[in-house]
Amino acid sequence: MGDYYEAQDEFMKDTLKELGSFTVIKNRNNLNYIVLGLAVLIGVGSIYYTNIIADQLKKRERNQIELFAKTLETIANDNSEYNENVMLLFEEIVVANETIPVIVTYKDGNPKIHKNVKIPQGLTSEEVNNFLKEEIENMRSQYTPIVIANKNNEGEVFNYEYIFYKDSFLLTQLQYYPYVQLSVIAVFFILSYLSFSYSRAAEQNRVWVGLAKETAHQLGTPLSSLMAWLEYMKSDPELENRDITRELDKDIKKLELITNRFSSIGSVPVLQEENIFDVIRSSINYLQTRISSKVKINLHQESEEVKAKINKPLFDWVVENICKNAVDAMSGVGVIDIYVQCSPEGNIIIDISDSGKGIPKNLIAQIFQPGFTTKRRGWGLGLTLVKRIIENYHRGKIFIKSSEVNTGTTFRIMLNG
Ligand SMILES: Nc1ncnc2c1ncn2[C@@H]1O[C@H](COP(=O)(O)OP(=O)(O)OP(=O)(O)O)[C@@H](O)[C@H]1O
Ligand SMILES: [Mg+2]
Repeated sequence: MGDYYEAQDEFMKDTLKELGSFTVIKNRNNLNYIVLGLAVLIGVGSIYYTNIIADQLKKRERNQIELFAKTLETIANDNSEYNENVMLLFEEIVVANETIPVIVTYKDGNPKIHKNVKIPQGLTSEEVNNFLKEEIENMRSQYTPIVIANKNNEGEVFNYEYIFYKDSFLLTQLQYYPYVQLSVIAVFFILSYLSFSYSRAAEQNRVWVGLAKETAHQLGTPLSSLMAWLEYMKSDPELENRDITRELDKDIKKLELITNRFSSIGSVPVLQEENIFDVIRSSINYLQTRISSKVKINLHQESEEVKAKINKPLFDWVVENICKNAVDAMSGVGVIDIYVQCSPEGNIIIDISDSGKGIPKNLIAQIFQPGFTTKRRGWGLGLTLVKRIIENYHRGKIFIKSSEVNTGTTFRIMLNG
């Protein structure tokens, strides 16, 4: 009988592996990196490109101001009739500049004329003057002013004027634009990712619960019929004390346990206050007879009584899965130490240590993922189930406290006290 089940199990695992469900995780990881790489490339690219455009615009604005300065200088120093034409040109240039804020000052720094500087409404002339002076300081911190030299007829410089200016609003916007744009896109992607992973988790939940419910339901019918048969056998004095009846009884109990677990996973499990120490001890007693006799499981209790609200069938499943992994990791020879203690905050801490082969650092992040296994005949579902039971059903935590290759691994479970 056993051989038959093993062969069937093997067949199912091979089929699943062929279906490629195990490579999906690796591909998904690679895809994540590719998407991340692309996003960084697009971000850097767009900032770089806008910077180039901003630089060009900056150069153009500088040229415009210089032209403005030259025109002012020419007007100031040229008294010929040609001046009229220059005046016209000046008008054109000054009027054409609708964007670059400019202030022309006298030698002593007092503002003479200004253009495109937004002055708040309702200021007195003194306040306007102060405002312009502040603005001049602001402009000075951005660009050194351009000097206009006023010359007399002999060409001697007799006065100076300065042109202060700063980046146009357009240019300022252009410099910030990629960052604003990228932040908006990033927020959008984070929100979409969150909603996507939320719906994926919800879908996974439905699959887990649905499958578990269906399994419990399917097992239920033949199980009750088997139980009836067993009762019948027990009532027959000839069969009552035969090995077959005893073995059948054991198998039915095991089937009942499995059905119980699946139906707990498939419904909102009832949590009851239990003595954790007692629960683990009974779990160990059950396991000890089913694993290699060269594996010793020790239970250490650090506190007097440790109670927590748990669902016993599911919690048993957790202990069983972790211990079975430990036995596999030790190749059937070694020690498993289980420590139960109360943290100062009142949480219950359960550490399960083995003296097995350990988990390489680069694999630690993956061991709770469904389908991850390093075993030839593994499903890679044991720890996924354990994590679900602890985190979703008990609102606790499970993680690897420590693991060293060739030395051993310690899993830590934390439950709310
Ligand atoms: N105590 C441990 N020591 C070393 N490696 C471990 C230990 N526990 C888990 N692992 C690693 O984590 C992997 C995933 O474990 P998990 O229980 O989820 O799946 P599995 O044991 O491979 O298959 P199954 O679904 O049959 O339990 C294992 O294949 C093993 O590589
Ligand atoms: Mg396992």
